[in-house]
Amino acid sequence: MRPILFEFPKRSSLGQHIKERLKAEEGCFTLRPFPDGESYLRIESNAKGRDVLINATLFRPNGWVLDLIFLADTLRSLGAKHIKLIAPYLAYMRQDKVFQKGEALTSKIFAQLLSNHFDSLLTVDPHLHRTESLSEIYKIPTTVVQAAPLISAWIHANVKDPILIGPDEESRQWVQGIAGELPLLVLKKERNSKGHVNITWPTFKDGNEKTPVFVDDIISSGETMLQAINQGKTLGLNKPVCVVIHPIFAGDSYEKLQQAGVLKIVSCNSIPHPSNVIDLAPLIVQSLGS
Ligand code: R5P
Repeated sequence: MRPILFEFPKRSSLGQHIKERLKAEEGCFTLRPFPDGESYLRIESNAKGRDVLINATLFRPNGWVLDLIFLADTLRSLGAKHIKLIAPYLAYMRQDKVFQKGEALTSKIFAQLLSNHFDSLLTVDPHLHRTESLSEIYKIPTTVVQAAPLISAWIHANVKDPILIGPDEESRQWVQGIAGELPLLVLKKERNSKGHVNITWPTFKDGNEKTPVFVDDIISSGETMLQAINQGKTLGLNKPVCVVIHPIFAGDSYEKLQQAGVLKIVSCNSIPHPSNVIDLAPLIVQSLGS
């Protein structure tokens, strides 16, 4: 039987592409706020005995997670056989350590919460840093899709003579996977308590003739990318291309980057954003089948 795919909180191009490729049935539900701000949810699809997929955009999770849990638990009460969460961007992965006594270890708490309400999870390039594998914090089976082949193909097709640049050590895992045989630089970053970043460049040669392609998994405040790009300018690099897997772009960071003299800002559609160019649906659907 065909799976049912629910899109949460609303339809996205990625969700539609996944649905078309899977030939899944579209899950229908009504979600609206009561006057007091609490949620009313009603599922209209028949989920009894069915495999259910929920494609959820989780990039600003605080306002949505409760409704997502209402959706999952209601589907279960209606007899859904298996409920898989597709969270192309997996939130709450960056506070993966208690740095100062008393801090919440939100990566683990969030993982436990989702594990209690879903049967399995599929995500794209989660921010694994001090946590090496999702199985350390998630109690349910997890699948990780890597966007590297799609990003690499985009760079080969669209950028002349590229040199890939990872703005910090954490980005090495992504940028190395994308680079393949292409030249690569990985910078060093320190962030102070106010969120400002300081970036150090390794010595390099032959980079100035090439097209710099800055690659990171997440752009949030944009500080990391902005600093790296501005320093690249002072080092005499050509106008860069900027590629990101998860385009959070908090506040006015997208506008600031656009004004920093970049050739192009390109993102994957894990989070709906005007910069979306790389469609993750083929890889997600391939991983759902395996
Ligand atoms: C963490 O190190 C990540 O790889 C990104 O570099 C970071 O999340 C970007 O954050 P922001 O845009 O706030 O500098």
